[in-house]
Amino acid sequence: LTWQEWAQAERAAIQSAGLWRRVRDFDGRGPVGTIDGRRVVSFASNDYLGLSHHPAVVAAARAAAESWGAGAGSARLIAGSRPIHSRLENELASWKGTERALLFPSGFAANLGVLSALGAPDVLVVSDELNHASIIDACRLSRARIVVFPHRDADAVENLLADHDGRAIVVTDSVFSMDGDIAPLDALTEACRRHRALLVIDEAHAVLGPEGDVAGIDSLRVGTLSKFLGAAGGFVAGPAPLIDLLTNRARPFIFTTAGSPADAAAAGAALRIVRSEEGTRLRARLRTLIDLLEPGHPSPIIPVVLGSEESALAAAATLFDRGFLVPAIRPPSVPPDTARLRITLSAAHTEEQVESLRRALAEVRGVRA
Ligand SMILES: Cc1ncc(COP(=O)(O)O)c(C=O)c1O
Repeated sequence: LTWQEWAQAERAAIQSAGLWRRVRDFDGRGPVGTIDGRRVVSFASNDYLGLSHHPAVVAAARAAAESWGAGAGSARLIAGSRPIHSRLENELASWKGTERALLFPSGFAANLGVLSALGAPDVLVVSDELNHASIIDACRLSRARIVVFPHRDADAVENLLADHDGRAIVVTDSVFSMDGDIAPLDALTEACRRHRALLVIDEAHAVLGPEGDVAGIDSLRVGTLSKFLGAAGGFVAGPAPLIDLLTNRARPFIFTTAGSPADAAAAGAALRIVRSEEGTRLRARLRTLIDLLEPGHPSPIIPVVLGSEESALAAAATLFDRGFLVPAIRPPSVPPDTARLRITLSAAHTEEQVESLRRALAEVRGVRA
């Protein structure tokens, strides 16, 4: 077989399993836009506070591009660092209550950077079974002994740490990206305290918390500028010795071009809004919208698990016909037989939009609205 013939055969196999995906362009600003020629309300973005199109965020990006140009031109350690990068790192550290923060080109790269720099064959890494793909790949790059623990099972973590003699890392999403549920941070912190393990928390989706009190243990908080900070990029916040070491050892930081000045400026402007009264109002609004759809649910990620790939695709197609963009999430993004709709809410949605999605969902699920 030529490579092209091989790729066609692979494609046919993926298609016949109902798992083929393609890129679709969403032409819009905020939740309303056009995709495949149809006007829809998107419930598919992680822009949870609508900050990607906030006037102050857009203005900051524009001003930074005017000052420093569109691209940084080289890696941070060479000549790519601009004052806007260091300012943002200081602001991120202050927000997370840590000594330092370090920017990465994406949240994905931040996870790769942390575990590849801190892992070694004599290190144990314990990782929740539903952690994000970037953590799974980071584990592989770490060269450490990896043990995957059952979802949210802090007792299992305690036992694994108790059985290990030497350095250990516990890594977890704080809000799980496909289920929208929350890690048992207090219990994990306690286990790490007892066994002097490092707790790495990926807070990519933690727009409404949980905060997690990690005082007194070694911990790193991984975050992204790409979701509720409305820009693109990632970061790690933590104590100076660890962040300084990452600056020297994390290859996804060292061997890549610095993020664009516009992205850093946009994320900084968004962060200032997040920390202001306006941010408090936006989070309260998001909370209200979540409660309209799923009262009490802890995050803006609301899964509707349907099981088979076909049923998830059919439900997404029905919703699309009614003007809603809600993605069908299939393996390998989620475990087999748990294909689902993944609804994400934003403070930029209106009550009416959420209400009409709720009614359409009830029809799709065959229950009364
Ligand atoms: C939990 C989690 N961590 C990391 C990432 C990667 O972040 P980024 O999109 O900035 O690469 C994502 C999302 O894609 C995520 O859901």
